[in-house]
Amino acid sequence: MKINISSQLNSPQAIVYPLLDNEELSANLVKIAGEAGLSADALQQDFKAGLKEILPLYTAQKDLQKIYLIGLGKEPKQADFIKVFRSFFYKHKKRLPLAVGIDLNASKLETSIEYIINGVCLAEYEIGVFKTDKKAEADFFSADSELTIVVPEKTVEKARTSAEIGEETAKTQIRIMSLVDAPANIKYPQKMAEYARQAGELYGFDVKVFDEKECESLGLGALVAVGKGSTENPPRFIVLEYNLSALAEKPLRKIGLVGKGVTFDTGGVSIKGSGSMSYMKSDMGGAGAVLGTIELAAKLKLPVHLIGVIPVTENCVDGNALKPSDVINTYSGKTIEVIDTDAEGRIILADGLSYIKKVYEPEVIIDLATLTGNCIAALGYNAAGLLSNNDELAEQLLATGQLSGEKLWRLPLWDDYKDMMKSDIADVKNLSSLPIAGAITAAKFLEIFIDGHSNWAHLDIAGMAFADSEYGSMKSATAYGVRLLTTWLRGL
Ligand code: BES
Ligand code: ZN
Ligand code: ZN
Repeated sequence: MKINISSQLNSPQAIVYPLLDNEELSANLVKIAGEAGLSADALQQDFKAGLKEILPLYTAQKDLQKIYLIGLGKEPKQADFIKVFRSFFYKHKKRLPLAVGIDLNASKLETSIEYIINGVCLAEYEIGVFKTDKKAEADFFSADSELTIVVPEKTVEKARTSAEIGEETAKTQIRIMSLVDAPANIKYPQKMAEYARQAGELYGFDVKVFDEKECESLGLGALVAVGKGSTENPPRFIVLEYNLSALAEKPLRKIGLVGKGVTFDTGGVSIKGSGSMSYMKSDMGGAGAVLGTIELAAKLKLPVHLIGVIPVTENCVDGNALKPSDVINTYSGKTIEVIDTDAEGRIILADGLSYIKKVYEPEVIIDLATLTGNCIAALGYNAAGLLSNNDELAEQLLATGQLSGEKLWRLPLWDDYKDMMKSDIADVKNLSSLPIAGAITAAKFLEIFIDGHSNWAHLDIAGMAFADSEYGSMKSATAYGVRLLTTWLRGL
């Protein structure tokens, strides 16, 4: 599929009209009815431009075969554009003709082109990669097709730049979705490291990978401890660095990102029930968000200095595996009493956080992790939990969440919860004895390992990394965090 941005349509076989429910709707429908040779009254009766409303019209004309009216409601947000276009193009991609136009002039939508194109391009994603019956027909995206977006003449150049950002964002999101959706037998720590190395070469950022022995000698005892249950697929510690400082006139902001990279979480010896264990291939969604954000920042050449730290491991069961009651050493020098081996994410993040703080001293640290089922119990599947020791950072991230549609909701990080993580025998335990406030106590645990850093945010994305969508009947990856963090970085 080729995308053109133009001020005119060149005999398309189908036109898509995204329409707002505003005072111009009626006039727009009269014009479209005229084009299609239909009754304007009937059209006005049948189409109200409600959000996600779709009306296909078939014309008797030779060239223009179909017109699709897409409702956007009264005041669609960025996320609404993305969802509406992703869903429309996903559902129709097998039956769209080769030349499709989207007319943004009728409802004056040219300033939303980035999100429209992002939604369109996300519709290319398919999760059925392991199906052997390859006769699945080609679709609009694989064909030699053309999508022309019509905008006012004087906005064409600007729209082209925005469309490119929308397209590049979708390409990265799709790469991350494929990675998060990949099953654990083809996505283990070594593979994650390979992915990071290749991404670094392709998009221009530095990648260092420490293998298990190097992790041990560096003192990353917490990561190594969780990895003990996987002798075949030992852990990796990945460090990414993207820095545009050499090209910048003034010093760039140094931002540290840490992502939980558990390629499969069985729970370890404190084994999970088998009910939805298969979803635990997505327990590296935080790592995916960090990889995707750095990849996209590099593609878009954002003026920033980014450090990404990703501890990667499986959480499996074997004779050497970590056991409840074990006490382990960490990079920070502090000791952890392991009460429950299923609370493994915080253990590996302990090393990730203290490493990034000590070695890179970034001005901001943000970690993303599919950390607690308790966060899902609190917020459901509509927002990630945000816990931060810095109100300004928290406000910025909350606002970016609203804007980008990758929403966040803040939970308290008060010291009232701190004692719940006290251990009798070590510096801290990995699970509170009380089955309450689990997302908060997990963050209180992490806070110990940022070692007094005053500008930190923890994003618990357990409910957001994997979600229901048109891609399949089960949950699949969302690449949550990539849009949120790049939108935030672009605003810095
Ligand atoms: N990876 C899970 C959290 C999770 C749960 C992510 C559901 C996505 C969906 C994490 O490692 C975990 O197992 N957390 C436990 C902690 C428990 C032992 C206190 C949980 O939340 O149940
Ligand atoms: Zn777990
Ligand atoms: Zn986990």
